[in-house]
Formats: sequence, C-alpha cells, structure tokens
Amino acid sequence: MIAIEQLVKRYGSFVAVDGIDLEAAAGEIHGFLGPNGAGKTTTIRMVAGLLKPTAGRIVVNGHDLADRPEDAKASLGFIPDRPFIYEKLTAGEFLRFHAGLYGFDGNGVGDRVRDMLGLFELTEWEEELVESFSHGMKQRLVMSAAFLHRPQAVLVDEPMVGLDPRGAKLIKRVFRRMADHGVAILMSTHTLEVAQEMCDRISIIAKGRIIARGTVDELRQLAGSQDEHLTPVFLKLTGGSALQEIDEVV
Ligand SMILES: Nc1ncnc2c1ncn2[C@@H]1O[C@H](COP(=O)(O)OP(=O)(O)O)[C@@H](O)[C@H]1O
Ligand SMILES: [Mg+2]
Repeated sequence: MIAIEQLVKRYGSFVAVDGIDLEAAAGEIHGFLGPNGAGKTTTIRMVAGLLKPTAGRIVVNGHDLADRPEDAKASLGFIPDRPFIYEKLTAGEFLRFHAGLYGFDGNGVGDRVRDMLGLFELTEWEEELVESFSHGMKQRLVMSAAFLHRPQAVLVDEPMVGLDPRGAKLIKRVFRRMADHGVAILMSTHTLEVAQEMCDRISIIAKGRIIARGTVDELRQLAGSQDEHLTPVFLKLTGGSALQEIDEVV
C-alpha cells in the first residue's frame, strides 16, 4: 500500500503540492488524474524518495519513508515519466543490473528475468541492445524492471504517453494482473479515458489539491451526472477550467 498524509511541496513561494491525502490499497489501481502542472509528478517523485517533501508523511507498505527509507524503497517499484536506460546494455543485461541494485541476485534471478521479459512480450529481444528498441519497447522494459523485485506497491507516472495501442493493451492487462496479485498501483495520468478504463478509484488533482475522489460511478454521482463518459463529470467537478487544459494536451 501507499499512504500519503498532508503532503506539501513548496518551491520558494510557489506551492506545487498543497496538502494531499491519498491511499492506494493492496490490490488497487489508483488513478491520479489531473491536468499538466497539477502536481502529479512532484507527488510521485516524493513517494519514490527522489524529492524531499516540505511537509507531510508518506508510508509505503508499512514503512515510513522518512524513518525507514531503505525498507520503503525496497518494497516499491517506480516507473518514471521520462525513464533513463543505458542504451549499450541488452534487455537481459539491463534487467540483471536492475535486479542487482535491489540486492536480488543469485538463485532465481535468471528465471525471474525471463518471466518478466515474457510478461512484457520482450523475450525475443533479451540479447538485443536497448538502443535498437522502439519507444514502446523501452517503456515495456522499464516496466518489467519495476516489477522485477516483486514490489508490493508500484508508482507509475503517465504510463500511456507515446504508447502504441498494442503496448497500451498489454500494459493494462499486466497492471490488472499485478493488482490481482495484491500489488498496490498508483498511476498518474492527464487522460480521462486512461483513468476511467484502468483504475479502481480515481483521485482528481488540480493546482496541487485533491478536488474529488472515488470510483467512476461515485465521481458521476458526486457531480450529479448520468453520463457514461467521465468528461462532463470532470467538467462539473473542476468548474471547467482544468478540463480545458486537459483537452489541450490530449
Ligand atoms: N523544480 C521545480 N521548481 C519550481 N517549480 C517546479 C519544479 N518542479 C515542478 N514545478 C512546478 O510545479 C507544478 C507541478 O508540476 P508537476 O508535478 O510536474 O505537474 P504534473 O506532473 O501534474 O504535470 C508545475 O507548475 C511545475 O512548473
Ligand atoms: Mg507529470
């Protein structure tokens, strides 16, 4: 699980994240939906332990990130929005290197690497250099690394950006399967359709604050909307302003 309490991040006088409470439970895909600049990446980087919060508390799988950062990070997988992969490695080398970073070596690593390559449909590319990979393949490789050490919680920042439809479908399937195995997934997106299709619950963020939360049905009820699609619901909840920004980038 991932639990965030009263999380704040200030840059000088600018408040990027303004007192967020959020929980992604074991087995849940929790959507973190909001327009560009809302504070999603800033929040996710704080949970990943890459950025120090100005205030607030983060607990990952029972470990307080401030008190037990190693335990918290060891139980977490992180898929950044702009991942860096050293391109002179093969897919297999990259995964084994990643396993080593998490202290996961020795028995069972080879099997686990092969399982992950299979799950993300990269098996035939194991011995190929990453530099020859398409964007979608690199994205799938980064995801397979994030799940490699059997994390109980996974953070994903904008997983669908730039993906081809086949890759998107695969990722939806894998995320659901991981959640069914008890992994908590916190996934940011600026796209309503992605949140609506993939997430069990959605927290809507605008200007650093959570403005609504619930299942798609609950959000609909909250906005008093019968609409099948979430767009008018979102429009109503945000007073229209945030949606416009969303539409511009979609
Ligand atoms: N290092 C930084 N210094 C100052 N402002 C920042 C910094 N990083 C992000 N911001 C600002 O914080 C806000 C939230 O950014 P971000 O978390 O990246 O939003 P999102 O991921 O939702 O698009 C934006 O206005 C952004 O410009
Ligand atoms: Mg972002």
